[in-house]
Amino acid sequence: MPHIPVLLKEVIYYLDPKPNRNFIDCTIGGGGHAKVILEKIGPKGKLLGIDLDERSTEISKENLRRFGVSICNLEVAKKRNRIFLVQGNFKNLKQIKEKYFHFPIYGVLFDLGFSSFQVETGIKGFSFLKEGPLDMRYDPRGQSLTAEKIINEWPEKELIKILRTYGEEKETIRIVRSICRIRKEIKIKTTRQLADLICKVKKEKRFSPFRNIHPATKVFQALRIAVNDELNNLKEALPQALEILEPRGRLVVISFHSLEDRIVKQFFIRESKDCLCSAEIPVCQCKHKASLRILTKKIIRPTQEEIGKNPRSRSAKLRAAVKISNSTG
Ligand SMILES: C[S@@+](CC[C@H](N)C(=O)[O-])C[C@H]1O[C@@H](n2cnc3c(N)ncnc32)[C@H](O)[C@@H]1O
Repeated sequence: MPHIPVLLKEVIYYLDPKPNRNFIDCTIGGGGHAKVILEKIGPKGKLLGIDLDERSTEISKENLRRFGVSICNLEVAKKRNRIFLVQGNFKNLKQIKEKYFHFPIYGVLFDLGFSSFQVETGIKGFSFLKEGPLDMRYDPRGQSLTAEKIINEWPEKELIKILRTYGEEKETIRIVRSICRIRKEIKIKTTRQLADLICKVKKEKRFSPFRNIHPATKVFQALRIAVNDELNNLKEALPQALEILEPRGRLVVISFHSLEDRIVKQFFIRESKDCLCSAEIPVCQCKHKASLRILTKKIIRPTQEEIGKNPRSRSAKLRAAVKISNSTG
């Protein structure tokens, strides 16, 4: 099944792409959001697309061919090209922009997590429903830590910590004890082995019509976050996105779980305040100035209609902000 871009109408509304403006899509994936942005910013607007997974840059190159695409570190861009693709981590956003994209930026989009094709092939091991290696790296060439290493080699205490903090898994202790017992005898190498082990601990079958979340969901989420250091990537990227935006430029973030959303929410709140001093301090010492205005007072969620058409969208949460210039507030 092709990847259906999540909250597309809302992304376009908040990013506000107009002719000849330039945008950065920090998670280009298959280019679903990018395609619509590019249609709106013609004839001259350009887009920098970043993705950690090399396959995404290849797939989006194919999908966006008609706009004129070049993969920055591999090809020389033609003058008429409107898309510049980079295989890289958005935690290096500013550096990537400075190297490859010398245009004023009107909007930055993050659509976090993974895309349908990454799950469906099973080769990355993101899915508990597909047999695959316990890998979970977006970028196997640039990253050495895998889910298999974590599961088979990390001390019990560390496993407990990541399942609790990144998965908010209630049955952490029982699951980790079972992992530690089994790994003494055999290596846990595949998604199916791990998913079955979790189902056994929770005494649940893989599929139940009474439950819409698979028993292994939270453990798999925790492993993916740990392998790819996802929360730190986001924490590092958000200030850079704000910095490279033009005044009145838009920042839009779609997240898929509460840990990511909390980071976005706290960043937006902090950067929308003029002073960060504690209430006991009568005169501002910090001199912090607001640099954004929050556009989404309430979080934006997909409609029931969208969830019906695209179940993957059900946990999506969108937040948007506009950059304001420090001097005018
Ligand atoms: C939900 S998909 C994006 C789908 C895209 N918006 C579309 O409509 O086709 C998220 C993408 O982010 C990429 N990704 C995850 N972490 C990343 C990071 N730190 N830097 C760059 N890309 C990342 C994944 O490889 C994946 O392709």
